[in-house]
This record gives sequence, C-alpha cells and structure tokens, in this order.
Amino acid sequence: MVPSTGYSKTKTAVFISGKGSNLESLIKFSKTTKSPISIDFVISNNPKAKGLNYAKIYKIKKKVFSFKNQNLSEKKLLSTLRNKHIDMICLAGFMKILSGNFIKKFNGKILNIHPSLLPKYKGLNTHKRALRNKEKYSGCTVHFVNAKLDSGKIILQKKVKISKNETESSLAKKILVQEHKLYPKAVLKAFNL
Ligand code: GRF
Repeated sequence: MVPSTGYSKTKTAVFISGKGSNLESLIKFSKTTKSPISIDFVISNNPKAKGLNYAKIYKIKKKVFSFKNQNLSEKKLLSTLRNKHIDMICLAGFMKILSGNFIKKFNGKILNIHPSLLPKYKGLNTHKRALRNKEKYSGCTVHFVNAKLDSGKIILQKKVKISKNETESSLAKKILVQEHKLYPKAVLKAFNL
C-alpha cells in the first residue's frame, strides 16, 4: 500500500516511452478531487515520445533520460526525483526495465500497467501471444513493481473478451480503452481508497 501523506496529494512522476494515452488519463484523473496523487513530472527515455506533448499541454515538467548508460541515467533520475519531492511513480508504457537498486529506493511506490491478465504474458508482444494461444479472454493489469519483470503484487485487473475475428491491433485498442479506466481505479486502491 502507498501511504497517504495527509491532506496534500502525493507528488507523482509518470514514466513513458511512447504515445502516452495512459499518461493523459492519469493527468485527467489527478485533477479530480478524489485523486490522492498529483502528476508533477513526466519522464521519458525517448526524446521522440509523442506523450511528451501532454506534459506541454498540461504544463507539467518533463525530462528525458537516455538510459544508454542505465546506471548513470538512474542516478541522475533519482536525484531529480528527490529534488522535486516525487514520492510515487506510475509506469505507463515505459519500455526500460528499472534496476533492482532503483526499485528499492521507491519500494512499494512504483506502479505499472501491463496489457495482459498477469501472470499470463509477461513482457512484450502480449496480444500476439494471446491470439496465437487462442485465448478467449485477455485484458490488463495494474501491479506494484518489484525487481522481477511484470511480477509484483497485482492491484487490479480488467478482463476483455477476445472476439472471433480479433487482430493484434483491434485487441490492443480494446484493451487500451480499459487501461485508461483501470489505472486511476488502481491508484485509488493502492491508497486504500
Ligand atoms: C499500453 O498498452 C501499456 O499497457 C503498455 O504500453 C502501452 C502504452 O500505451 N505497457 P500509451 O503510451 O499509454 O498510449
């Protein structure tokens, strides 16, 4: 559980690598009164991530860390987050695997969204693998991040039915719609709200 810090919202950074549609849904949620978090920083490893535009639109600070030298990037990142008093991290389509050392520093305070019904289909190409295995259902999962990929404690999941003529891209779209609803709900649950 993420401890609440009293009356003020918990300062949160969202890490992205791509489109950032989950980032936008979290930003919108963070502006509601029921949200226990505020989004104060957007971090990306990819300078071309489209999602960085949301930081601009919503006037949120953003910073790119190349992660070419992961150790160095994580050191700089940790000091940036500390300086900004960031107390929670939401990974949203972030394509780098954070080190055990980094995760330890934010122990129990990093959440991730993954487009499968974990523990099934950890890692990449989840939709392709679910279709190949003729699954009847897939979905999405929000979980706490630990040192093992996509293996931390599950907070919430949403099941989605796979239809007859489902393609990778139709399934990805269908699941993404649910991701946008699930992540805010999972944040509330992580705060016991
Ligand atoms: C989502 O499907 C998320 O579950 C996965 O990457 C995708 C990111 O989408 N980890 P977006 O960048 O939030 O639009």
